[in-house]
Amino acid sequence: SNQHRFRIAAIPADGVGREVVAAGRDVLDALEARSGGRFGFHWEEFPWGSDYYAEHGVMMPDDGLEKLRNFDAIYFGAVGWPTVADHISLWGLRLRICQGFDHWANVRPVNFLPGITSPLRKADTVELDWVVVRENTEGEYAGLGGRNLSARGAGGEVAVQSALFTEVGCERIMRFAFDLARTRTRKKVASVTKSNAQQYGMVLWDDTFRRVAADYPDVETESVLVDAMAAKFVLHPEDLSVVVASNLNADILSDLGSALAGSLGLAPSANLNPERRYPSMFEPVHGSAPDIAGMGICNPIGAIGSAAMMLTHLGLPDEAKKINAAIEATTAQGLLTRDIGGNASTKAVTEAIIKNLPD
Ligand code: NAI
Ligand code: MG
Repeated sequence: SNQHRFRIAAIPADGVGREVVAAGRDVLDALEARSGGRFGFHWEEFPWGSDYYAEHGVMMPDDGLEKLRNFDAIYFGAVGWPTVADHISLWGLRLRICQGFDHWANVRPVNFLPGITSPLRKADTVELDWVVVRENTEGEYAGLGGRNLSARGAGGEVAVQSALFTEVGCERIMRFAFDLARTRTRKKVASVTKSNAQQYGMVLWDDTFRRVAADYPDVETESVLVDAMAAKFVLHPEDLSVVVASNLNADILSDLGSALAGSLGLAPSANLNPERRYPSMFEPVHGSAPDIAGMGICNPIGAIGSAAMMLTHLGLPDEAKKINAAIEATTAQGLLTRDIGGNASTKAVTEAIIKNLPD
């Protein structure tokens, strides 16, 4: 047969990560069952995360990246648990994978779904649809710096945390954003900066943006300070299409975007290595949500939407559209988890999405 089997590494990790990865797998397995043998998924699950740390003293084994390297994609839940310091768990697993596999583009769509009340009243009357493109390997999360415990005596500790901006790093994420803008109805890229205060890295960011923009005369551009962009997300979101930003700025803005759309639990994301030298990784934007983990009530839509992004990346865009249509049909029916004002369980929402998959 001409069946294509995609090899997917699942890393549920911690808290609700486990619940939402299981939900996403159920949806993909349902699609496989309906595909008439056209495609299938070979899953391998890795038990890495904070429990693994408790047992082994590391978040993932030393050869973890080698183990992941030959998969077609990685499907990730969320990492972080009160038993492990957050900087240890994040650097030890998620950032190690993203930096090790050169996932330099992090794509985070902000989806406004039917049947969900947005805290943004404008969303009632105006169609809103934008995507945050996050530089994902350098900037403020380059991991550069250090702590000096003794230099200034007791109580006088000093720490430096530097941001790294390279022209190559800025240029590739900006070109990615412009290419993405060309595929959208509104052909516009907004660059998020802070060059008034950060006169080295962010000025290089701005200069590179101007140079790259010259190659895309058909795409509208603007450059907006990050604080003003936060206000713009709330006041004039209809003006947004593609928003390109550095690692930290995009991290903050994409949480704001998904909160405006109704909940952090709705937001999907893709960590891409666009050259496809390494497997890309797909995960919801949210974290492990220890406050609701294990209760069966978390919202699986961010993770299921991330599975749709994975299918697009794997060359199955029509299957991805089916998942997104099923998500919309489900929220439109009013079948909602608690974070978006309903009382449906994770399982009920997942089953409804599967039922709503178009043929
Ligand atoms: P969080 O995203 O886990 O939770 C923030 C709020 O959103 C909580 O009230 C939570 O209940 C709610 N929420 C999150 N996901 C939800 C879902 N699917 N359905 C319904 N409600 C949901 O962020 P928080 O609390 O700051 O961090 C918790 C842990 O997660 C920390 O250890 C943190 O380091 C980690 N984290 C990991 C991320 C990742 O793996 N990519 C991203 C963000 C945080
Ligand atoms: Mg975040």
